Amino acid sequence: MTIRIAPSILSADFARLGEEVRAIEAAGADLVHFDVMDNHYVPNLTIGPLVCEAIRPHVKIGIDVHLMVEPVDALIPLFAKAGANLISFHPEASRHVDRTLQLIRDHGCKAGLVFNPATPLTLMDHVMDKLDLVLLMSVNPGFGGQKFVPSTLDKLRDARGRIDRHTAAHGGAIWLEVDGGVKVDNIAQIVAAGADTLVAGSAVFGAPDSDGGYKTVMKQLRSNAAHA
Ligand code: DX5
Ligand code: ZN
Repeated sequence: MTIRIAPSILSADFARLGEEVRAIEAAGADLVHFDVMDNHYVPNLTIGPLVCEAIRPHVKIGIDVHLMVEPVDALIPLFAKAGANLISFHPEASRHVDRTLQLIRDHGCKAGLVFNPATPLTLMDHVMDKLDLVLLMSVNPGFGGQKFVPSTLDKLRDARGRIDRHTAAHGGAIWLEVDGGVKVDNIAQIVAAGADTLVAGSAVFGAPDSDGGYKTVMKQLRSNAAHA
C-alpha cells in the first residue's frame, strides 16, 4: 500500500509560508494539507484561495484543500483556479452533497468527503462513484494540536472495508485519509487500521531540525508508518 504524508500548514509559520512548504517538500511530503476555516462552520478563521495561489509556485506536490466552510460551492472554482489538486468538504456543510462532489471533479480536482467523529459513514453510500478521497477526522475540526480520538481506529477499519468492497466491485481508487492528532508514536496503529494518507500538523511543524527543515520528523513518520 502506498502511504502518503500530508503536513498541515495550519501549524506552519504563516509569516514564512513559502519557505515552510518548500521545506516539507524537501523533507519528502506527498501533499500540502491546506485547512480552510470560516468562523461559521468551525469556530476559527484561516486561509483562502489567495494564499493557495501564493504557495502554488513554491512546490510541485499536490495541494490538498480541506474546506471547513459553509456554504461550500462558491469556493470550489476559486480553489481550483488557485491550484488546488484535491478538494474535500464536510457533508453537513453542503445542501447537495452529490452536486458538490461533481462540481469539484468538473473543475479538474479530486473530490473528497470529510467525516467528523460523530458523522456516520453511511453518508458515503450513494456517492462512492464520485469519491476520490474519504477523510476521517480524528479530532473535532477547528484547531490543530488536539488529541487523537481513539474510536477513529474502528471507524477506519469500517471505512477501509467499504472502500475495498466498492473498488473490488466497480474499480477506481479512493484514498483514505486521517486528520487530527497523528504523531510519530501512533501513526503505525492508524495505518494498520487502514489509512493510506496521513495529515500531520503540529507533529511536523512542532519538530523542526536545527536547520529549520523537517527531514527527521518526516523520516520517523514514514518509517513508523511502513512498520504498521
Ligand atoms: C483540524 C485540521 C487539521 C489540523 C491537524 O481542524 O483539519 O488538519 O491541522 O493538526 P494536528 O496534526 O496538529 O492535529
Ligand atoms: Zn485538515
